[in-house]
Amino acid sequence: MWQTAQWGKPQNAAGAICGIIVNVTTTWTEPGSTPLALLLLGQGTDANAERGVDCPGVLPAPSDPDLVARATAAKAALGTRVFVLGHHYQRDEVIQFADVTGDSFKLAREAAARPAAEFIVFCGVHFMAESADILTSDAQQVVLPDLGAGCSMADMAALAQVEACWDRLDELFLAGSTVPVTYMNSSADIKGFVGRRGGVVCTSSNAERALRWAFERGQRVLFLPDQHLGRNTAVRQMGIDADDCVLYDPHKPGGGLTAEQLRNAKMVLWRGHCSVHGRFTLSCVQEVRHRVPGVRVLVHPECRYEVVTAADEVGSTEYIIRTIEQAPPGSCWAIGTELNLVRRLANEHPDKEIMFLDRTVCYCSTMNRIDLPHLVWALEELVAGRVVNRITVDADTARYARVALDQMLALP
Ligand code: 13P
Ligand code: SF4
Repeated sequence: MWQTAQWGKPQNAAGAICGIIVNVTTTWTEPGSTPLALLLLGQGTDANAERGVDCPGVLPAPSDPDLVARATAAKAALGTRVFVLGHHYQRDEVIQFADVTGDSFKLAREAAARPAAEFIVFCGVHFMAESADILTSDAQQVVLPDLGAGCSMADMAALAQVEACWDRLDELFLAGSTVPVTYMNSSADIKGFVGRRGGVVCTSSNAERALRWAFERGQRVLFLPDQHLGRNTAVRQMGIDADDCVLYDPHKPGGGLTAEQLRNAKMVLWRGHCSVHGRFTLSCVQEVRHRVPGVRVLVHPECRYEVVTAADEVGSTEYIIRTIEQAPPGSCWAIGTELNLVRRLANEHPDKEIMFLDRTVCYCSTMNRIDLPHLVWALEELVAGRVVNRITVDADTARYARVALDQMLALP
């Protein structure tokens, strides 16, 4: 049953840009289940999500012709007090103001390597900003220009669900031989959970190293929250049998798995996925190969197993960029990752033919929440001495999440 609720607040700039309904949340309710708030560019806060969606303050109009000049002036006024990090999926209008661009791993390292910057403005999503807060000193403040920039995959693993899964493993005397590994795309409390239990964080560029590290310490891995990255790394890169990977569904009693299945598993994969990368299917790969003879297919490891298996190259956003930079002129590529990045690569490499793997346009809607009006607003507020949208992680969670993050940064 679909339910729609009106929120009382005035329309913000994000709604005006996108030109779609704002101030409305739509809720899908399975009979007898908890409503799932979608918060489509809405306002208010979803307590079940890893982020909030409020944007306090008055945003500049997206049509303001001075936005670029205003961002330039605000950055110049702040000088070395501010450091702007930009994930590769950010819009061009935002990326132009990033001091460093990168994948999740590079950005985490860059945040940790800037002790002199008083403010880290993170143009990315909430879990990345949380990790930056954990990896920086107490004197530094991390700002996410729009709190609506969450990640639907990170929202698929809530702490209470993960604790229930661990309790189940414990009941079966399996917890002691299981090492938890969480993808960077998870909330700080999941990273804290993993750090407390001797596990590690990984990103798409070091998942294999993290899994090898984990298997040196236990017989099985609980991999959170992206089933695809977990399966792709275990089966394709490490040669683990697909039958040794089981899927734990947090919405089913006992994860939907028998004691025997859990006991025999090498990889317990959490049933989470990225809704953007989930769009790429095997038929997208077959269709482009048929349509464009000689095309090379390059995809992110968050894509499904059959897509990654049918592709020519697989890797993180940083790997995708490097591959295109090193590709010979005249080569032809179909790329399966977020559209802002694919479009930027196509513009930057006119000597190569670069196309989006899916015929249908698809941005990461939460990455896209960070736009120039939000960036200008956040920077100008800092100039005025006000820190807006600060991301903080409580000390206890941060302490253990840092253990798991430091372990990742120290992987051989
Ligand atoms: P990368 O670490 O490859 O940049 O990926 C981050 C992400 O969110 C992909 O969806
Ligand atoms: Fe999350 Fe997918 Fe967006 Fe990455 S692309 S931030 S995994 S929803």
